[in-house]
Amino acid sequence: AVTVILAALGGYLLGSVPFGLVITRALGLGDLRQIGSGNIGATNVLRTGNKGAALATLLLDSGKGAIAVLLARWLGGETAALVAGAAAFLGHLFPVWLGFRGGKGVATFIGTALALFWPVGLIACGLWLASAALTRISSLSALVAATGAPVMALVFGLRGLALALGFMAVLIFVRHRANIQRLLAGTEPRIGGGGPRP
Ligand code: G3P
Repeated sequence: AVTVILAALGGYLLGSVPFGLVITRALGLGDLRQIGSGNIGATNVLRTGNKGAALATLLLDSGKGAIAVLLARWLGGETAALVAGAAAFLGHLFPVWLGFRGGKGVATFIGTALALFWPVGLIACGLWLASAALTRISSLSALVAATGAPVMALVFGLRGLALALGFMAVLIFVRHRANIQRLLAGTEPRIGGGGPRP
């Protein structure tokens, strides 16, 4: 029980580091909250025009989920790993440092999935990339990947993983409410475009 509580706390703290904000502030790229969608994720960092900053945000936001899982697995086994992954994801969505107003969780979801069971994580990456290549819409690709990952976990017969990823996928959909409305209205911007008003 103690390891699970530690995994939850540690995962949350790691996940709550908003790398998009940290990096854009450090580079003086302006206030992310006032740019594009106002989100703190890599897609919105790309709207500052700095591709390196966007890539770094993507890698660090996914990396924090992966590290949380790997550390917890090493210290406490597979249940601790699942809890730490879900906690890191929740930390990204609801960081205490930002008054619990965090990001949409896509990068952290993929990093967590990769570390929990890499075949499912890899499929999630593949779904995102294939969808992005076809549509050039980040949010739509995120929704495709978030749907595919828990389904694939079930296909592999991993119920605990499917449950954890399914829970995260539901929150990803909730967080993409505004994106879904724009997708339905045909106004969702493409990757590399200017982005909606915050
Ligand atoms: O990872 C978030 C992405 O799916 C959408 O981001 O900034 O276009 O709302 P954004």
